[in-house]
Amino acid sequence: MKTAETKSNRPDAADSLRPEQTVAEIVIRHPCLRERLEQLGIDYCCGGKRPFAEAVERAGLELNAVLENLGQALLQKQTGTPSIDWTAVSLTVLADHILVTHHVFTKTQLARIDALLAKVQNAHRSRYGSMLDSLRSAFDPLRAELEAHLMKEEEILFPAIKGIDGFLSGRNGRPFVHCGSIAHPIRQMEHEHDGAGSILADMRGITDNYRLPDDACQTFAALYEALEALEADLHQHIHLENNILFPASVSQEQRMDANPV
Ligand SMILES: [Fe+2]
Ligand SMILES: [Fe+2]
Repeated sequence: MKTAETKSNRPDAADSLRPEQTVAEIVIRHPCLRERLEQLGIDYCCGGKRPFAEAVERAGLELNAVLENLGQALLQKQTGTPSIDWTAVSLTVLADHILVTHHVFTKTQLARIDALLAKVQNAHRSRYGSMLDSLRSAFDPLRAELEAHLMKEEEILFPAIKGIDGFLSGRNGRPFVHCGSIAHPIRQMEHEHDGAGSILADMRGITDNYRLPDDACQTFAALYEALEALEADLHQHIHLENNILFPASVSQEQRMDANPV
């Protein structure tokens, strides 16, 4: 006698992965998939608004294989520690988390990479001078642009976001939003995120995906590890801003504007 229908061995959560969802929607629901998406080369931060199937195609991958891969990742994570659901906290909490975690890390890491790169350039100029010069030509503008970007968020955008959140929560009075609406600086920040993402991709190309030469020293290895860590952190940082903080802030501003008090 034929047995009852075959039950899929994919976890229930994997059944919620739908190709028509955006990449951001999938990552917001399953933050534990970020690392796997990075390994697969699927952009979930600057490209997070794309439908998942399109993002998979852009990465040159086959959709069913990717869904199976992510399903396995979810299965492995089911016994692990649950990730924080950043859509369930206030925008003030989320903004503060971004500031103390990602902004602090980015500034520290940029300074560290600058020093490591200088050392490696010095030690390996004869054999890798041209590649390292190209890396320097990409890194210096990235550092300058990111440091200016962080300052604009810290001094202008995030105080406005927290002011609106505080007003709607009754913690403070109605804030004065410079530049008319926070939608304007948000658009600019998203544009700058795209610029940073583009330079990070250039640096991957220059370094052949951070593949160390056979004769690399420990400092060379530390440089590539630091650059990859910067990239991974920026992906999560930009994901939290582009896909959660910024759209929620625009909605909160609209709610504030609709409130006459
Ligand atoms: Fe930021
Ligand atoms: Fe940002």
